[in-house]
Amino acid sequence: MARLDVTETFHGISFPGHLHTQDSLQQALEFQFRDTDILIVSYPKSGTTWMQEIVTLVSNKGNPHISQTIPNWTRAPWLEQYYFAAMLKASSNTPRLFTTHLPHHLLGPALQGSKARVIFVSRNPKDVAVSYYHFHKLANFLPETGSFEQFVNQFLDGTLHYGSWFDHIKGWTSQAADLNLLHITYEEMSMDLKGAIRKVSCLLQCPLLEEEVSSCMKHCSFNCMKDNRMINYSLIPDEILDHSKGCFMRKGQIGDWKNMFTKEQNQHFESVYRSKMQGCSLEFVWER
Ligand code: A3P
Repeated sequence: MARLDVTETFHGISFPGHLHTQDSLQQALEFQFRDTDILIVSYPKSGTTWMQEIVTLVSNKGNPHISQTIPNWTRAPWLEQYYFAAMLKASSNTPRLFTTHLPHHLLGPALQGSKARVIFVSRNPKDVAVSYYHFHKLANFLPETGSFEQFVNQFLDGTLHYGSWFDHIKGWTSQAADLNLLHITYEEMSMDLKGAIRKVSCLLQCPLLEEEVSSCMKHCSFNCMKDNRMINYSLIPDEILDHSKGCFMRKGQIGDWKNMFTKEQNQHFESVYRSKMQGCSLEFVWER
C-alpha cells in the first residue's frame, strides 16, 4: 500500500504532513484558549486515547452513549490537525475538549495566563518507544521504520515525528506550577484506574457516585475500548491505518519493552536516559 508519509517540518520538529500543515500548526500556536477548556496533552503512544475515553465517560457520569456513538477524534479533536482548525474555533461547546501532542515550548505561550485545565499524560519511555514502533507499521502516514535498533536510536535522538520525548516531558512537567495541570501516568491508570478516574472527576468538577465510577472503569477498560469502534480506530480506512498489520489497541501493558529490547539496547537507553533526565525528579514504573 502506498505510504502517505509526507513530512512537515515546523520549528525544527517533524510532523506527519498527512495530518498537519504549516498553517494548522501555526493556528494551534495562536489558539485562543478559554478558561473552561480541557486539554489532553501527551507524547504519542502514552495513553492519549485512553484519557480521551476517561474524560468523555467522566463528563457523562459513566454513561457510555457519547463514547459509543461519536469517534474520539470528533469529541476530543487534535488542536494541530488541519481539518479541525475551523471546527475548533467555531465550537460553542462548554467545556471544549481538545488533544495535543505539541511540546510545551511551542504551545506554552498560547496557554500563558489561561486557567484551561490541562491533563498531561505520560508513560515510561521504553514502552512508548515500543508502542510507537509498532504503530509505525500500521500508520501509513508515518515514515517506514528500519530495524527496532534504528528506531530506538531515533527515539533517543528526538528525530521521530513530534520530536523528542525528553523535551516533551521536561517541557510540560517543568511548567506544571504555572498551569492548571494534572499529571497522570499511563502506569497509574493501569495500576489504579479508579484513582485516576477520581482525579479526573475532581479536576473537571464532575463528582461521581460509586456506580458511576464503576461504569467509567468498565467502559474504559482495555477490552471494552478494543471492541468500541468509536475509539479503536477501526473506522479509519486501510490506506491510512493498515489494519492488516496490527491493531491500535495492541497490548495495553506495562513493561512490554522487555520483549523487544536486547540487553545492549537497554543499557544504551538507560545511559542516554540518565544523561538527558539529569536533575529531573520524575520517576516511572518500568515493569510490573
Ligand atoms: P500499546 O501499543 O503498548 O498496546 P496513544 O493513545 O497515546 O496513542 O497510546 C496508545 C497505547 O495506549 C497503546 O499501547 C494502547 O494499547 C494503549 N491503551 C489504550 N487504551 C488502553 C486501555 N484502556 N488500557 C491499557 N492500555 C491502553
